[in-house]
Amino acid sequence: MVKIPEDVIEEIRSQVNIVDVVSQFVQLKQSGKNLFGLCPFHEERTPSFSVSEDKQIFHCFSCGRGGNVFKFLMELQNISFPEAVKKVAEMENISVDDKYFQGNANSQETAENSQQKQLIDLHEQSVKLYNHILTNTKMGQPALDYLHKRGVSDDTIAIYQLGYAPGQRLLKPFFDERKVDFQLLRKSGLFSEDQDGNLRDRFVDRVMYPIRNGSGQTIAFSGRLLTTDSDMPKYLNSPETEIFNKRKVLFNLDLARPNIRSKEPAILFEGFMDVITAYQAGIKSGIASMGTSLTEQQIYDIKRITHEVVISYDGDTPGQKAIKRAIDAFNEQKSSIEMKIISVPDGMDPDEFIRKKSADDFKQLIVHAQAPIEFELGFLKKQYNLDSEVDQSHYIAEALKLISHVDSGISRDLYLNRLADEFEVDKQLLQQQLAPLITQSTRVPEQQHVYHKQVQVVKQPKHFSLIEKAEMQLMNRMLHYHDVWLKVSNVSGFSFVDEQYQMLYLLAEGYFTKFDEYNVATFSNLISEDSLQSLLINIDMLELPDNPTDDEINSYLNILMHRAPVEEKLKKKRAELKQAVKIGDVDKQRTLTIEIVKLEQQKRMKQQV
Ligand code: GTP
Ligand code: MN
Repeated sequence: MVKIPEDVIEEIRSQVNIVDVVSQFVQLKQSGKNLFGLCPFHEERTPSFSVSEDKQIFHCFSCGRGGNVFKFLMELQNISFPEAVKKVAEMENISVDDKYFQGNANSQETAENSQQKQLIDLHEQSVKLYNHILTNTKMGQPALDYLHKRGVSDDTIAIYQLGYAPGQRLLKPFFDERKVDFQLLRKSGLFSEDQDGNLRDRFVDRVMYPIRNGSGQTIAFSGRLLTTDSDMPKYLNSPETEIFNKRKVLFNLDLARPNIRSKEPAILFEGFMDVITAYQAGIKSGIASMGTSLTEQQIYDIKRITHEVVISYDGDTPGQKAIKRAIDAFNEQKSSIEMKIISVPDGMDPDEFIRKKSADDFKQLIVHAQAPIEFELGFLKKQYNLDSEVDQSHYIAEALKLISHVDSGISRDLYLNRLADEFEVDKQLLQQQLAPLITQSTRVPEQQHVYHKQVQVVKQPKHFSLIEKAEMQLMNRMLHYHDVWLKVSNVSGFSFVDEQYQMLYLLAEGYFTKFDEYNVATFSNLISEDSLQSLLINIDMLELPDNPTDDEINSYLNILMHRAPVEEKLKKKRAELKQAVKIGDVDKQRTLTIEIVKLEQQKRMKQQV
């Protein structure tokens, strides 16, 4: 294993802008010096995650995570440092000698040997095997014909690594030959288990669609029958496993993400084939849920990367119902996301439409997509027999409810006009009915508009002890002002009280032997431990006035060198006293009490210094 030299790491880091990388995963808004968004590492409704372009670091006020661009990718994708370096290099098309990565990845793997990695590895191997069967064997010919007949090109087959699981079982013998652990195979979801506990290939005679997670790793499959005239389900999915939760997955998110970011809205489809056909036709921002209603998690993931989504479900009745459910789900989540609805004509699904018409025709559908309210009014109308006057008045009442949710007064007025015209009713009457509904309308709370206009960040004032504060501020000063560094490091007997700070201090010493200027993102490269990384970022995010005075520095030194030791001793003696009380050792209690009183006196005297 060859360690990546520090200058190579720094060279790569300095060529990438952390904002470009983070904004592929988080929707960022400028506010003051920094950019803000929803933290990708935990669920939240108000943004506490920030990126500093100046410093090239990220930091979350809420969970305390922080670091440079490598750290961001490591945390987000659960990868090692060398893997993160490689990713960033690839993003920037910087060529780096392969020798740094080869040994590294493997040793990393044996070290971690995590089950998830092994499961993903089984899937990646299966992808290759199924794809090979489809594209290179006689066995796969019928499936290849099927895909070609559906208009799927060889390029697309390669991009999506489509495959074929033949009629005869082959995955089990394939892995048995490679001596893969039985329990691992069992957990993979690639097999079903019979009554005797034997494993058999789950997918038989099906076209195989690999399901990838957001990082592009295959975590499951969906297999489609070549013909739908059997009783078996058309699509068979992998069961839930340690690596696959269908409520969390968005099909194609890994490929769509960079395109969604570069201005195209996310297009939400119902089926895999819609996504794939659209992609082949050059519409590359499509994603799909796994044949289920949208979940909170999926909406959250969409919201995180874009503020516009086009819902493009099938034109048939179930499709229309699913659109309504999707609109409701987005609204329920109080998403500050703009929705648009495509209605594919003639009951077609987007896949058929693009193949029968063209990609341009589909793009026209996007251009003419409806606002949710228009779709909802149309959908509502279909539930009533508008020849009946009773139904008419019910429809109008329900329609007014929908209109009351529309934000803009002008738009509301337009819909009222339409309604008045359509049913030849007095507009003023409608207005009177609408007015009380508007004040009741709570569907879109005010709070989330704030996010669009101006980001509100609630900084939680954390309570630090006097000593912690002194350590933090002094470290900040020492790193940023080299004269302070020199002064403090020349004080004999100086050390930080907390081990973590002392460790940072030592690492910084190493840093300054190589670099003259302080740069937090560069320094981050040298810190492998998570908690130290976060600590460093927290120190750097402190907002202190420029140019520290001698008094300021002296007061930190005083606290750390004189008060802190007393404080430490007091803590220890108090704990001992507690213990003595517990076991009823009266003598010890007496001596300890005297010691504590003395220490407290000392502490008071030091405070006056
Ligand atoms: P094609 O018939 O191949 O064009 O499929 P489609 O993409 O048009 O799918 P369809 O509209 O029939 O269904 C939409 C999505 O629902 C699919 O992509 C699957 O995710 C899911 N789905 C459809 N049929 C089944 C099934 O029988 N079982 C399961 N588990 N999911 C299904
Ligand atoms: Mn279809």
